[in-house]
Amino acid sequence: MAETGAIVLAAGMGTRMKSALVKVMHPLAGVPMIEWPLAAAFEAGVAECVVVAGHQEEKVRAHLGERPGILFATQAEQLGTGHAVKCALPQLPSSCETVLILCGDTPLLTAATLSEMLQRHKESGATLTVMTAKVANPFGYGRIVKGSDGTVQKIVEQKDASAEEREITEVNAGVYCVDAGFLKAAVAELKNDNAQGEYYLTDIVSRAAREGRSCQSFQVVSPSEMMGVNDRAQLADAAKILRRRINRELMLSGVTLIDPRTTYIDRDVKIGKDTVVEPGATITGNTVIGERCRIGQVSQIHSCRLADDVTVKAGSVLEESVVYEFASIGPMAHLRPGSELHAHVKVGNFVETKKVVMGEGSKASHLTYLGDAVVGKECNIGCGTITCNYDGVRKHKTVIEDGVFVGSDVQLVAPVTVGRGSLIAAGTTVTQDVPADSLAISRTPQTNKEGWVLRKKQQG
Ligand code: UD1
Ligand code: CA
Repeated sequence: MAETGAIVLAAGMGTRMKSALVKVMHPLAGVPMIEWPLAAAFEAGVAECVVVAGHQEEKVRAHLGERPGILFATQAEQLGTGHAVKCALPQLPSSCETVLILCGDTPLLTAATLSEMLQRHKESGATLTVMTAKVANPFGYGRIVKGSDGTVQKIVEQKDASAEEREITEVNAGVYCVDAGFLKAAVAELKNDNAQGEYYLTDIVSRAAREGRSCQSFQVVSPSEMMGVNDRAQLADAAKILRRRINRELMLSGVTLIDPRTTYIDRDVKIGKDTVVEPGATITGNTVIGERCRIGQVSQIHSCRLADDVTVKAGSVLEESVVYEFASIGPMAHLRPGSELHAHVKVGNFVETKKVVMGEGSKASHLTYLGDAVVGKECNIGCGTITCNYDGVRKHKTVIEDGVFVGSDVQLVAPVTVGRGSLIAAGTTVTQDVPADSLAISRTPQTNKEGWVLRKKQQG
């Protein structure tokens, strides 16, 4: 069957980013930049995609890994866009009769635009279709030179353009649909006799025109879609647009964002209906949030799973943790990786947890550190409780069985187990296991010295 394949050009370093990291690996809304054009191409119906990598190829390959439909080509030296395509072609499956070419640094192109372009390309029967945009400032872009019949005759790069050609405001977006047979022949014969000494992919246009083949333009409705990211300012601009799209989609699916402009949600985050997200929340990684949750102001949630009806109050930080129904977290609580809070658990102000399971209905309402611990159901962990899990060399486990009441200001020196239904008196340092249904108390007996203060004052 006739398929469409894609080539994504990503071999350049992106020097204007002024970064040790290759441009296409810079994150945008939680995923490396190159993920965006790739996703758009696949969503537009592309069967296979050849990624042309060069600078930091190993990073690009390692990130994309083994994925169905993704192939790699190496362009060891960046001799131009035409040369990059030449490097890609041997990897392209022969079943691909149409080739979609795009760049790894144009993250704003949508699948809708690409599929419309592909459809127009096929309907028109053109050999080549070039995506163009009318822009106010065409500086730096290749200019689209058209014939009287409206077909594209050639593309002239900024540095090669005559004064007259520089006046043209319709520019090359750098996205093409091409007949595979023509592309192979055209790319094989590209020359680098131009101002930059590069093999320009754009020269395939004049070749098509010369051969009497049809070369059509496909003008994008919103020119911002073709925006390329070249520096960090454009990276921020692109991120803003992508976030706006993510937030809009979430709102249309039934999530309330009190102030979408200040809400930062990554691409792969999922949020259920009737959840309310307050201003300043940052939700990242592959976080999944259920329905009817409330995510408080300036909270940060990274790669967590929250069930339905969970409340996260202002200023809380949740990392790689799991939270079940009706649990309540914060304000200003910190769930560090490996926290698992079961239904109706409450973790309140200034509580920190790490590698902890808290059973249904248990509460740690204030000022507590729970690390490397298993807390049973319906336990009360009093204010100021500390699991002393670290002896300077190794971490040890604390087990608190169901229904235990831990008073305020208790230290549990791990490894230690508190049996079910026990009560730990306030101020106790627990150093031995506590049997079930027992009272554990370790306090220096109190002495009251009556009148001591008065006497002290009289002595002057
Ligand atoms: C290119 C087009 C220009 C168009 C513009 C749109 C050419 C000759 N010019 O110019 O008409 O208006 O894009 O943004 O094609 N790359 C490689 N290997 C190379 C060279 C480039 O992989 O040898 C990759 C880059 O990493 C980048 C993309 O191709 O992702 C575009 O290359 P770039 O040098 O930025 O092209 P422009 O000069 O902007
Ligand atoms: Ca260039």
